[in-house]
Amino acid sequence: MRKIVLSGKRIITGEGCLSVLSEFSYKRVMIVTGGKSMIESHVIDRATDYIQKEDTEILVYSGVPKNPSTEDVDRGLLKCQSFKPDCILTIGGGSALDCAKAILLFYEFPYLNFDNVLEYNLKGLIPAERKTALICVPSTSGTGSELTRGTVITDIQKELKVPIMTDCLRPDIAILDVDIVMTMPKNIVAETGMDALTHAIEAYINHNLDEFDEGLCSSAIVGIMEWLPKSVLDNDKEAREKIHNYQAMAGIGFANVGLGMVHGIAHAFGAAYNMAHGLTNAIILPYVLDYNRQDPTVDKKLKELSYRCHCSDIVKEIIKMRKMFDIPESFNAAGITEEMFLEKHDLILEHAMLGATRVNPVVMNKTEMDKMIGLVYWGK
Ligand SMILES: [Fe+2]
Repeated sequence: MRKIVLSGKRIITGEGCLSVLSEFSYKRVMIVTGGKSMIESHVIDRATDYIQKEDTEILVYSGVPKNPSTEDVDRGLLKCQSFKPDCILTIGGGSALDCAKAILLFYEFPYLNFDNVLEYNLKGLIPAERKTALICVPSTSGTGSELTRGTVITDIQKELKVPIMTDCLRPDIAILDVDIVMTMPKNIVAETGMDALTHAIEAYINHNLDEFDEGLCSSAIVGIMEWLPKSVLDNDKEAREKIHNYQAMAGIGFANVGLGMVHGIAHAFGAAYNMAHGLTNAIILPYVLDYNRQDPTVDKKLKELSYRCHCSDIVKEIIKMRKMFDIPESFNAAGITEEMFLEKHDLILEHAMLGATRVNPVVMNKTEMDKMIGLVYWGK
């Protein structure tokens, strides 16, 4: 039996669709957002205006950094527990969304915390028991967090990214407003777009793929390959909106299917050096795809994708696109010195074997992983 979830309750798309917030009547709304960009671009003001009714109280928790930590979640949780919202509205990049989701989980289920959440049977949590609404407005086009049942939080002490998955975290409403993603700087458009591409490809070559998610992921791959260059290089609104929607489709797909070793390794490097998630994926993706080609099913799927993308080889095309976006081809080229690498090598190796690596289409052992880590560090 498979339980395929195609989204939360609603996905709202279209230019200016943030205004849909005016249709809701929540009494106590906690807004969770990142550093400055959503405040400085007045998106938070607009959201507040839309959601404000005569008797609405609003609390803003801002300053969530990239790679939100357990401390960031705990700080927000304290505010949440004293404010007691009936709706958490999160506006920002994947980091803000992930932080909001973790706050919501611990607010709704107070017997959970970071010490026990990974051991706890989260499948036993019933989504209908969640009383607080979760509305997500992504300001970047990559993580798909506005539709997934997961959140990734960094444990700074352990230098480990902790993925938490439960249907209770699936947002109720995702608002995909192109006006909000038009403010993204070029490097963020590129890196988050590469994250979305990685989601779609890792799910598409995962042996757990089903026909429903095959449709979502393959369309997302073809669409991202076609439109991402225009979105990054030309700041083109049509392209930006298409990528925003394709990344959401990839999010739905990978939430059902799972990912693979690119994400396993990316989380290990990201936690070790506090690097942006999309950047780490973009560096790693071509190396892992080449490696996974030893599986004939993966090789066949990559050939089919190449045909659908009108290119001779999709992996070479991804390398070309990465270069076009000025994304480095290795962690060494990204500024991680040899000394920094050697210092963290064993920790990265240990952590890279965890998480999504366990569902990679080719089973990895530690020796093979060690070679792969050397490859993504030094490049070819
Ligand atoms: Fe990702």
